[in-house]
Amino acid sequence: MARFHPLPVAAVEWLTDDSAVLTFAVPPALREEYRHAPGQHLALRRTVDGTEVRRTYSICSPAPAPDDEGPSTLRVGVRLVEGGAFSTYALKEITVGDELEVMTPAGRFTLEPAPGLYAGVVGGSGITPVLSIVTTLLAREPRAAFCLIRSDRTTASTMFLEEVADLKDRYPDRFQLVTVLSREEQQAGLPSGRLDRERLSGLLPTLLPVDRVAGWFLCGPFGLVQSAEQALRGLGVPRTRIHEEIFHVDNGAAVTSSRPAPAHSTVTARLDGRGGTWPVHDGESLLDAVLRNRPDAPYACKGGVCGTCRAFLVSGEVRMDRNFALEPEETDAGYVLACQSHPVTEKVELDFDR
Ligand code: FES
Repeated sequence: MARFHPLPVAAVEWLTDDSAVLTFAVPPALREEYRHAPGQHLALRRTVDGTEVRRTYSICSPAPAPDDEGPSTLRVGVRLVEGGAFSTYALKEITVGDELEVMTPAGRFTLEPAPGLYAGVVGGSGITPVLSIVTTLLAREPRAAFCLIRSDRTTASTMFLEEVADLKDRYPDRFQLVTVLSREEQQAGLPSGRLDRERLSGLLPTLLPVDRVAGWFLCGPFGLVQSAEQALRGLGVPRTRIHEEIFHVDNGAAVTSSRPAPAHSTVTARLDGRGGTWPVHDGESLLDAVLRNRPDAPYACKGGVCGTCRAFLVSGEVRMDRNFALEPEETDAGYVLACQSHPVTEKVELDFDR
């Protein structure tokens, strides 16, 4: 079960004008709980004017090996979002020594080190989880290689510029970096411009043997991730080799269903070994119905993006507004995002423990 603990901020290091790394110190007693896989994220929470606000930020530091003790520090990349209450607070108000409520690591956009060739297509702050994936992979698995294609606006706005350059120096034979800037010409390398589906379809086969890549990691804004997925599918890459994590989804991307909701419906939920049955109010998500009665129900984004609210649909039927977090295999297996689910049948049963 995901849990929150107060963790002290040990450092705030600026990366660019609008992004920084927050480092949390993890006390020895909590290190096992904060053991994470490369690519996972942390949800942070605070209460603003009586309302709880949560945001997820990806861990950029390498993951501990299974035989090592859990991490003594956790580093997350935070980019300032225009008008974003949490990122403004995180970057402008937090100072070393402050304590933040930090959830234990979550997320399935992960790669356990294994031999093989891997690749990533990332945009902007989408580099954050992929940095953890690449550094962990190359350090722990000498028979692994990674090709990173990153898209940023300008050099000055590029997060983790030095860390990624270090990887090139440290692993010249196993790490390939391709940078595309949308608003700046580079002296060497690819011409500027956006990475859209057409450009990626032409570019990827020139960079690496696409059919030999064991896993593709796509992370960034919705448009880039979607373009990269379409390009890969067009190049014959099976869906099972493509892993996605989306940051920033416009509301326009929401999918709404015309299926009518029943007049009265209830949700039965099992959470941390205990169950209960509660009414679902008109228009309310199943997560909100559960949260009214079980404030410990897991969630972070409430936007269908992070996957923290994943639950198994034991019985009944739901419709999801949108899903940018679950893989097709997970929805086929019966998992839903509680924050996006609305009842279609009068009774719905969820299991958050599975
Ligand atoms: S809380 Fe993030 S997907 Fe539901």
